[in-house]
Amino acid sequence: MYRSHSCGELRASHITQEVTLAGWVQKSRDKGFMIWVDLRDRYGITQLIFDEERTPKDVFEKAKALGREFVIQVKGSVIEREAKNSKMPTGDIEILVTELTLLNASLLPPFTIEDDTDGGEDIRMKYRYLDIRRNPVKNSLMFRHKVSMEVRKYLSAQDFIEVETPYLIKSTPEGARDFVVPSRMNEGQFYALPQSPQTFKQLLMVGGMDKYFQIVKCFRDEDLRADRQPEFTQIDCEMAFVEQEDILNVFEGLTRHLLSEIKGIELEKFPRMTYDHAMKTYGNDKPDIRFGMEFGELNEVAQHKEFGIFNSAELVVGIAVPGGATYTRKEIDKLVDWVRRPQVGALGMVYVKCNEDGTFKSSVDKFYDQDDLAKWAEVTGAKAGDLICVLSGNTNKVRAQLSALRMEMATRLGLRNPAEFAPLWVIDFPLLELDEETGHYHAMHHPFTSPKPGQLELLDTNPGDVKANAYDLVLNGNEIGGGSIRIHDKEMQATMFKHLGFTEEEAKAQFGFLMDAFQYGAPPHGGLAFGLDRLVAILGGQETIRDFIAFPKNNSGRDVMIDAPATIDEQQLKELSIKLDLH
Ligand code: AMO
Repeated sequence: MYRSHSCGELRASHITQEVTLAGWVQKSRDKGFMIWVDLRDRYGITQLIFDEERTPKDVFEKAKALGREFVIQVKGSVIEREAKNSKMPTGDIEILVTELTLLNASLLPPFTIEDDTDGGEDIRMKYRYLDIRRNPVKNSLMFRHKVSMEVRKYLSAQDFIEVETPYLIKSTPEGARDFVVPSRMNEGQFYALPQSPQTFKQLLMVGGMDKYFQIVKCFRDEDLRADRQPEFTQIDCEMAFVEQEDILNVFEGLTRHLLSEIKGIELEKFPRMTYDHAMKTYGNDKPDIRFGMEFGELNEVAQHKEFGIFNSAELVVGIAVPGGATYTRKEIDKLVDWVRRPQVGALGMVYVKCNEDGTFKSSVDKFYDQDDLAKWAEVTGAKAGDLICVLSGNTNKVRAQLSALRMEMATRLGLRNPAEFAPLWVIDFPLLELDEETGHYHAMHHPFTSPKPGQLELLDTNPGDVKANAYDLVLNGNEIGGGSIRIHDKEMQATMFKHLGFTEEEAKAQFGFLMDAFQYGAPPHGGLAFGLDRLVAILGGQETIRDFIAFPKNNSGRDVMIDAPATIDEQQLKELSIKLDLH
């Protein structure tokens, strides 16, 4: 037996018991005649004491040689601690050690294994197994486990069954590039790793499985951000014989259950907002509704004077920043610089200070009088003491820019409280999205999404106006889930592929299996997928998913610990019939 107890377990009630513990040396303090060692495992820390008088001499000598992160096993008795530590759960006791076995020595770790470590991100990623020993990472992984377990419990209780779908498949279009795997046995052919199990879960519905879920890895070769990893995990779900309303209710139930079980927060029914409203009011399809600063469109009240920039703009739109009227000229200039950064891309910003005395001072006083500015304040909901920030230009661009400014100001003003949870359904997404570069439409969600009833006719005339039975679940300004009601009719699916620019042959080659399946009694069905990493991070009060993934990739998609991706040898390339042509 390696251990009778964990290092987080022993209390005053255990005093006098003989115990065996095993773990890592967190630190040791050698006072010459007395040595204290903090022994750590996943469950906590227990103090060991080696005493020249009471500890066998050989054990005492061995204790002197212990270094940080050595793995040891000790036997001894639980005794009352003289100087108790109320901050530690085991702080009332210590172990008077009688036997010490060195299980493994350790090199000096390259950073301290402490909550506030001295190690930078790069070094911690290279030695991720040491990083995992630290409480913040360890706790995040344990937190993730708890969320996964609750998901499984809840969905199983609702008759969902977890089915595994294959990883070596064919392209599933979710809007990113595929990671591909060459097939040795099929020369010149490749599998694609799933961007999601989308087509398989639909086939499970045709198979009569009715309520499916899977906590599953997905792979997408896309640019990385704080909330994106090339391999990430979805809680993927699908149901047959359902309408959008059923799906929203079931998964709102799951989300509410998680918030209640994990965070102890009971929420009312989630608000719903159409995509069009979200874009108009927040400039964004995943609005953070924990705070206001809603958009006020100013075209009507700002395009009647000689200010050419506004007059030629498609959209003039502003937000009222609470308390912003106290900003100095210099602070405002900095804000203008901020919106002009390439990441935001605005050309400039007009501002109006709403003074406490009811007057206004703006950067465009030359063009607009107090009555004009009062109207702007009315439209943006600005009160005395606020600062109205106004951007103008192309509608889509300017909405995105003002949305970025809104989020930035909220962060600066401390309005994005991570302990507050504001979920929201965004519904009625457009079916198609115009790719400005190619001039082609592509599916906004994915090509299996059904248009709203009666909108099919619009596909030929106004494709951009067709709305889909598609929805996202948004939490605190993050898209944590998305889904749709699917097409389950072969003809309609074929029509959709046609509109997405597939020839009949291409559609058949790529998705013939799905359309064939639709001919054998496909039930009406729909579903959604949550991003588990994002969900866990947000529930944990953070937005960087990397901290909740045991072995994440860095921003260049590399695993710096195992040093992947890597080249493969000539022989392997040959077996795969691959010739490299690297410049
Ligand atoms: P979608 O592409 O919206 O839908 O993905 C669902 C959710 O997965 C999360 N997500 C990611 N998380 C981390 N890193 C990534 N690179 C990443 N990409 C997506 C997001 C997102 O909301 N098959 C459909 C679902 C369906 O229609 O049922 C799908 O995959 O939180």
